[in-house]
Amino acid sequence: MTTLTALDATASSGLVESRRPALSVIASLLRNPLQAMPPEVYREKLVLAKTGGRTSLYVCDPPLIQEALTKQAACLGKGDLIRKVLGPAIGEGLLTADGAHWRWQRQAVAAGFQHERLLGFLPAMIAAAEATRERWRAGAAALDIGHEMMRTTFDIIVETMLSGSQALDVGKVERAISDYLEPTNFMFVYNLFGAPDWLPYPGRGKARASVGYLRESLGRLVAQRRADAEPRGDLLDMLLGSADPETGRAMSDAEIVDNLLTFVTAGHETTALGLAWTLHLLAQHREHEAAVLDEIARVTSDGLLRPEHVAALPLTRAVFQEAMRLYPPAPVITRQVEAPFTLGGVSLKEGMVLYVPIQAVHRHALLWERPDVFDPGRFAPEAARGRHRYAYLPFGAGPRICIGSAFATMEAVAILAVLLPALRLEPLSAVAPEPTLKITLRPKQPLRMRAIARG
Ligand code: HEM
Repeated sequence: MTTLTALDATASSGLVESRRPALSVIASLLRNPLQAMPPEVYREKLVLAKTGGRTSLYVCDPPLIQEALTKQAACLGKGDLIRKVLGPAIGEGLLTADGAHWRWQRQAVAAGFQHERLLGFLPAMIAAAEATRERWRAGAAALDIGHEMMRTTFDIIVETMLSGSQALDVGKVERAISDYLEPTNFMFVYNLFGAPDWLPYPGRGKARASVGYLRESLGRLVAQRRADAEPRGDLLDMLLGSADPETGRAMSDAEIVDNLLTFVTAGHETTALGLAWTLHLLAQHREHEAAVLDEIARVTSDGLLRPEHVAALPLTRAVFQEAMRLYPPAPVITRQVEAPFTLGGVSLKEGMVLYVPIQAVHRHALLWERPDVFDPGRFAPEAARGRHRYAYLPFGAGPRICIGSAFATMEAVAILAVLLPALRLEPLSAVAPEPTLKITLRPKQPLRMRAIARG
């Protein structure tokens, strides 16, 4: 493991240092890692955090975020911690790889995310949303909205990326992902203090079994497809047909499974969480829900959503964007310095960890008026024009920007436009849900709601 070297910090304006007792950071990490971030990240530009003998830099200033994630991208890698936490599941697939190995994989699948191709996915997105709507119409006394959205986006990812597959059971996959992510808090704590990898922690056995299940299911799918001569032209075919431009070698089965698991997990869980938070917020803000319903009624006229309607729903999209501002599904970007550089007057040495705390940037006192208030008007074109492009980055930025950002946005708008006009969601709990960090931003307790058919 790389050891962090001391930071040669020449203080610059906007840089503050945050020191907190290790015990308090550990307690927060175990309870909810979101609260383990230094509180200064919500009001300062650069925060240097020293805990347990480690120093990390939180970058919260849009121009500096831009500089780090674009100009200095080549000096930054995904880092030891990310690979340690996610590596057992997704190996060195597109999300976790660096350098030439990353570039090859990105090129191999890029064609699958071009605009024209995404438009072709819209019927599958609408059909999955309609299936959810019918399920809710048939009886929806106490829905777990997070789970419902996972089911919907899972159907879509499997249909669009793998041409549908009976080999994957959504309930089991969802459970396996949750079991895998559950003990990540312990991994963060152990990493902070350089604890050895063999040290046990609660949930480790379950996490291992989940990875075994997920990788085995996808491995079976790869074997089936290799035996099946008929091309489908989907993500799996793209991976099977790709060759490393430097060596000419094809991907091994294990590397294909790394990527399938990356796409199945990154491609459905994040969007589902974004949607679950959106539905929660709309249930709290009926005036915005009414405006969205108006827009959908105007555009669809007969109430039936068709693919060509999706691009004509800017307010519905703005509601989803604003929900992801308050609750970004991937709330923290982590990088490790691989080649020294200077950022905002701070010299960063090899091994140091840099965070872009997206969730804090999205609620930053210097960047947003009334940062905690839900206001989709912030995403009207004229309001967005006045803002630094890097003040809002739910999909990240730079070369590692989310490859599925357009896919996810299109999908979310389609799902909202099918569900909202048909059913009104009533929260079943008066208690505000607490967002918690498990790599993604999940509600700590299930978001329970009742769906009532609209007259
Ligand atoms: C609302 C939904 C989504 C959110 C908020 C989201 C967020 C992100 C973020 C922040 C990153 C950058 C991570 C970093 O820089 O370290 C990322 C990368 C990635 N996302 Fe998404 N994502 C979403 C949906 C999707 C979908 C639908 C797919 C696939 C169909 C996908 C696949 C990926 C992949 C493969 C990467 C790694 C890209 C690379 O490193 O080249 N994501 N995502």
